Amino acid sequence: MGTGPEAAASGPVSPLPIFFIGSPELVVMSLSFPSLPFRVALNTGVTPDADYGDRQAAVLNAAGLNEARRCISAWPGYEPTPLIDLPGLAAELGIGRLHYKQEGDRFGLRSFKPLGGAYAVQRCLMREVAAQTGRDDIDPQEILDGGHAEIVSGVTVTAATDGNHGRSVAWGARMFGCRCVIYINEAVTPAREQAIAAYGAEVRRHPGSFDDAVRQAFETARREGWHVIPDTSDGDTIEAPRDVTQGYAVMAAEVIELLPSGTPPTHIFLQAGVGGMAAAVCAEFWRTFGPERPMTILVEPEQAACWFASLANGRPTAVTGNVDSFMSGLACGEISKLAWEILEPGAHAAMTLTDAAAEAAMRLLAEGCQNDPSLVAGESGVAGLAGLITAALDTEARRTLRLDTAARVVIIGTEGATDEEMYQRVVGRSWREVAA
Ligand SMILES: Cc1ncc(COP(=O)(O)O)c(C=O)c1O
Repeated sequence: MGTGPEAAASGPVSPLPIFFIGSPELVVMSLSFPSLPFRVALNTGVTPDADYGDRQAAVLNAAGLNEARRCISAWPGYEPTPLIDLPGLAAELGIGRLHYKQEGDRFGLRSFKPLGGAYAVQRCLMREVAAQTGRDDIDPQEILDGGHAEIVSGVTVTAATDGNHGRSVAWGARMFGCRCVIYINEAVTPAREQAIAAYGAEVRRHPGSFDDAVRQAFETARREGWHVIPDTSDGDTIEAPRDVTQGYAVMAAEVIELLPSGTPPTHIFLQAGVGGMAAAVCAEFWRTFGPERPMTILVEPEQAACWFASLANGRPTAVTGNVDSFMSGLACGEISKLAWEILEPGAHAAMTLTDAAAEAAMRLLAEGCQNDPSLVAGESGVAGLAGLITAALDTEARRTLRLDTAARVVIIGTEGATDEEMYQRVVGRSWREVAA
């Protein structure tokens, strides 16, 4: 049940004008979804009526998107992933439309991540070839065609990951022919480790959290002369994380092109780890629709709510302690400073969920509501949807976020069954059975 601002005073972050803690009341009785605690904070720093500005364009812009599209669409197997209408679930939630972008089949890697990590590997190799040949006109196709194999094979790329980003960097390294070393932290499951190694990368397990693994990747790269491909930026490392985020924007551009009659949605619920994905999507909608852009709501695990804390405090704020989550891709304690440039003015709200909400959303998608198709979605990929359902089932969150029959909501299902064993344990069926 929603409570007033006074409930926030005892919370771990500064209170906001409208801020509540709740467990959803079942305003729609037929939907089977557990009543779980959650928190919502409205971002007082958002500039809802502003045009996309220079500060944002310095991170993501039209030229960058065009270049990313040109590169990525030339990779073998590229095709836009589908935008699926879920009228059954929309009706159950009492909203107008629900569009679900299904990233579970992207390049066979089962997540949206190759758009970022592999693209940044290609851009890194272009820069390295340019530096070694003295040419400033290296075309991405030259890298894809193996045109500079003697230089490229001498390059080592590295990254820290909780699974999907490492898989993407390893996949890109194999496609372009360079060496790859991936750092994972203690909590990464063996299935995710094997999925990275399957692309020929050397995988090194490092004690501590995701953020510790990030620091280790940087330290080793500095010592060995390797290239780090981070999906997050501390404010000093800009180039590669910007390429990663720019690559993700291709996914957002696909969504916009697939929207019925090009009408902007009213809401997007976006799962956030370091925030690169959410920044890319928010930016692309903002660039395209200006002040008509949708309300953007970030969704995070309760124990790794670095965006919630940062937006609440009005400045980047790290979350300390154990940030591990079932939503492993979102288990980050520190935001990306590049994403902050977009999301500080761009995100309207942040919300936190318990891990159980993501499990429930995975089962609900596998089941399908009314005549909706059964969809396979992994634990991090489903968080935005879990956030929408949770908010729509709570009277106060519903009213505050204007979730009503006029709402047209976009959700990005950013992964399929990236950990097959985990999927089967949670859903009770294999992903293949569900997909069939
Ligand atoms: C499936 C999935 N969705 C969303 C995210 C969040 O992306 P970001 O860390 O850019 O916020 C991740 C990150 O690994 C992920 O694996």
